[in-house]
Amino acid sequence: MEKLRIALTKGRLEKDTVALFEKMGYDCSAVHDKGRRLILPVGDDIEVVLAKAADVITYVENGVCDLGVVGKDTIMEMNGKFFELVDLGFGKCRFALAGKKGDDFYGGTHVRTIATKYPVVARTFFEKKNMDVDIVKIEGSVELAPLLGLSHAIVDIVETGTTLKENGLEVFEYVCPISARLIANMVSMKLRQKEIEALIGEIERNL
Ligand code: PRP
Repeated sequence: MEKLRIALTKGRLEKDTVALFEKMGYDCSAVHDKGRRLILPVGDDIEVVLAKAADVITYVENGVCDLGVVGKDTIMEMNGKFFELVDLGFGKCRFALAGKKGDDFYGGTHVRTIATKYPVVARTFFEKKNMDVDIVKIEGSVELAPLLGLSHAIVDIVETGTTLKENGLEVFEYVCPISARLIANMVSMKLRQKEIEALIGEIERNL
């Protein structure tokens, strides 16, 4: 039987997922000693692939990985064709609209400029409010944009709130909660249903 291939988002979600696999009794020593390797065995039946969040979705959508672990933030931004199976409960944070402390963001009638790494999420949020905004895509440290005067506000991930606080920014409004999700390729879900369902059962018992 071919191993189930699971794409993990490198970094914190990878660590939390490996901790979950260990709790489930899988040998994750290869992942701990990975060096620069990107494909690693977990126990006898699973192979994990370490990728960037958006690429986890690409690999799962295209069926080269059966399953993936990725944040709801990336899922909301990418809108892919795959099944979202389990809320893993870790990687918890929130999407928020934020800007300079004390700014009256909703005051006045001018068109606001919003900086974000998540243009789809930001667009959808303001469409629901019937607000026309200009969106500027930023690749990281989005908090800089309002500080430098590029935007009136940001739509970004807030976890502890420290980055906002230490830069004189504050949350104007929370958009939605985020956490890590287990996703599955649609064909794998049919062809390997029993294995995947057994794994989901094991995961749910160990969350
Ligand atoms: C994320 C996010 C915030 C920060 C929030 O950035 O974009 O900047 O973490 O965390 P906090 O509320 O606990 O301070 P990340 O560290 O992923 O890097 P980036 O700025 O390069 O996107």
